Parts: sequence; C-alpha cells; structure tokens
Amino acid sequence: MTDFGSGISPVQDWATDYDILDPEYIKDPVPVWTSLREQCPIARTERRQASWLPVDYDDVRDFAADTDLFSSADPIVISNPSPDAPPPNAPPITSDPPEHFGARRLILPAFSPKATAAHEPYTRDLCRRLLDGFRGHGRVDAAADYAQQIPPRVIAHLLGVNEERSADFTHWVRCALELGMSDPPLRDWAREQIFGFFSEEVAARRAQPGSDFISEMITAEIDGAPITDHQLVGTCNLLLVAGIDTTWSSIGSAIWHLATHSHDRRRLVEEPDLISVAVEELLRAYSPVTMARLVTRDEDFKGCPMKAGDTIIMNFPAANRDPKVFPEPDQVIIDRAENRHVAFGVGIHRCAGSNLARMEMKVAIEEWLKAIPEFALDEPEEVIWAGGQVRGPRQLKVTF
Ligand code: HEM
Repeated sequence: MTDFGSGISPVQDWATDYDILDPEYIKDPVPVWTSLREQCPIARTERRQASWLPVDYDDVRDFAADTDLFSSADPIVISNPSPDAPPPNAPPITSDPPEHFGARRLILPAFSPKATAAHEPYTRDLCRRLLDGFRGHGRVDAAADYAQQIPPRVIAHLLGVNEERSADFTHWVRCALELGMSDPPLRDWAREQIFGFFSEEVAARRAQPGSDFISEMITAEIDGAPITDHQLVGTCNLLLVAGIDTTWSSIGSAIWHLATHSHDRRRLVEEPDLISVAVEELLRAYSPVTMARLVTRDEDFKGCPMKAGDTIIMNFPAANRDPKVFPEPDQVIIDRAENRHVAFGVGIHRCAGSNLARMEMKVAIEEWLKAIPEFALDEPEEVIWAGGQVRGPRQLKVTF
C-alpha cells in the first residue's frame, strides 16, 4: 500500500493495524473486507485512534443495537477533537436514548413520503437546468458540476435558507467531514461557519417566523418544553451535513457505475421504471456512509476486549457486501429482488432523510439518462474518490 505523505506508515496487517484513510482502501475497500472476513472478522487498529472495524452484516447490526455500550456522542470516524472544541452538537445523530427519541421526532415530519414528494418538482427542475447548462459541451465533471450541485440546493430549499449559498454549504461540509478528518483546525473552522450561519437564521426566524422548516421547529416542543437555540442550531447543522455529502456521493457513484457498465446504463434507458429498484442496488454496492460509536465502558464484545473510549467504525458499506446476506455481493445486479441493505444504517439512528435521498437519486438519474443516454469516463485513471466518513467520487469527468 502507498504512503500518502501524512507521516503515517503504510499498512502491513489490515487485521491489527488498518487505516481507513489509506488511498488504495478509499479507492476500493472491497478486497480488504473480503480478506478480513476470512481472518477476524472484527479488525483492530491503534493508529490515528484506537478503533474496531467490523465487516459482517450481523456484527454491524449488533453494534448498532446496543446503544448502552456503544454511544453516538461522537459519530465521526476519525474524530481527534481539539482540546477546546465543544462536544459535537448534531441531534439526533449525536444523541443517545432517552434524548434521542424526542430529537428524532422533531425532524421526522419534514422527511415523510408526502413532505418529500413536495420537493420533487423543485429537484427535477434543478436537474434539468444543470443538464441544460452542459449537455451541449460533450464533456463534464459529473461529480463537481452535477451530483455536487443538487443536494445543497435541495436541503437549502427544504430548510428555507438562501440556495445561492450552496457553494459555501458544500465547502463547509467538505471541510467539516472529508478534509477536516486529517486537519482538526480546518474542521473546527467549518463547524464555526455552519453554527454561525444557522445561529443567525434561527435568530431571524425567532424575530419574524416564516413558513419554512426552521420556523416550524421553533414553534415545536419536545416533551412539553420549547426547543432551545442550542438544539435548533445543532439540528440544522446535522441536516446540512447529513444531507449534502451523502447524497452527492451516492449520485456520483451511480453515474460512475453507469459510465462504466454500458449494459446497465442501456437497460435503465430502455426501462426507466427500473430506476427505483436500481437505486437500492447502487446504494447497497456503493454505500457512501460510515459512522462511528464510542465504547462507554471496558467490556468484551464478540470476543473483542473493548476499552472505554475506543471507537467502533460502523461499517455499513462492508455489511452490504456480506456474502452470507447478499448472494454474489460484489456483482451489481440492478434488478436485485431481495435487498435488505443497511446503506441508511440500522437501529434507532437509521437515516431520517432516506425518502429524500432516494427521491434525489432517482430524479437525478432519470433526468441524466433522458438528457445524456450515452456517456463514458473521459480519463478513467483521473477519477478521484473521497472516503473515510463518506465515500464517493469528487472528480468524475465523462464524455458524451
Ligand atoms: C444516499 C444518501 C444518504 C445516506 C446513504 C445516508 C446514510 C445515513 C446513515 C448510515 C445514517 C445512520 C447514522 C448512524 O447510525 O449513526 C444516517 C442518519 C441520518 N441521516 Fe442520512 N443518509 C443519506 C441522506 C440523508 C439526507 C438527504 C438527509 C436529510 C437531510 C439525512 C438525514 C439523516 C439524519 C437526520 C440522520 C440521523 C437519524 C438519527 O440519528 O435518528 N440523510 N444517514
């Protein structure tokens, strides 16, 4: 494996010293998971921070189920908090029971199937406008100029904040998650931008409520108590962070797959009704999101001597490649009938925005295939993948 210039040595033994930021792993983690399944199947590392990496479906589900032993207080996979940084504030994803229930109930109405359907016309129009902007050019970076442009605007539309700030939102979220993983001061800066922005938005709505979701949350209650500014700003922070990187990565991975698998692409062009089923398979095969849990006390779990403060890497992407659950897990079968994937997580923290994410993916693929049915990678070796917390292409040049 390559050394990537961070002063961190290359991996020699993935079972005892893995590195989820290894560039080869980011590019294609599947061979590592396959090999670990034969050896451990829960790997361990001390590098960057003490953590455990499950790869089996049942193990990931069991870690998610035990919310007492495994806390969500800091779900960042490589956290390294700065000494003076405030604790993560992104309810409900950073909440454990019993607070989790009320924090989740606050946001669920905004993501019901009905509420999500109301954002579809906006999303479709947005995709068409983006495509109209480059379809005559014969080439585009489908990650930067298409996938990345959709979720920040949809989430801004949902929250009722200025969509023209979408480039800022994307930059902050990238710095908070992807780039900040190896640069804690940058991550702290990005968090300050996000919290500063939403503090002002909340204050403006307290002064003059509107008809948007932030205003709705202001007038809501949890267990009879009004929502504090701390909780409101933290929740908006989560919706921005959770809604952007994730969905843009999954749209990008879907386009990468269709650019490199012409049979699947032509089938979806001819059978657009299949796109909803294909979205599930693309989510399974290229699951973008990995989360973390903190071990709350010293205890053996599944034969592993866990220590309080250890991190558990919630490897939803590997669980989705477990051959015990998915026949031919490394084949993308776009009409796979049985597909209990955990790309959206499992247990009490299962993704609250899954309806919205599915809608965005479906509309983005439908509109792309209508406008550009034939396309291929421009320079395959120039595709740039990001990984760690959220995996997806960051540069994806295609020609058509
Ligand atoms: C393809 C896109 C997406 C994927 C793969 C995804 C994946 C996930 C996963 C794996 C979790 C579980 C976290 C955990 O167990 O710690 C999660 C939670 C969450 N997601 Fe998503 N997500 C996506 C899009 C979205 C969108 C668009 C939103 C809306 C803004 C959203 C909002 C949330 C929220 C609020 C939670 C926390 C739920 C809780 O803690 O109860 N996600 N997501």
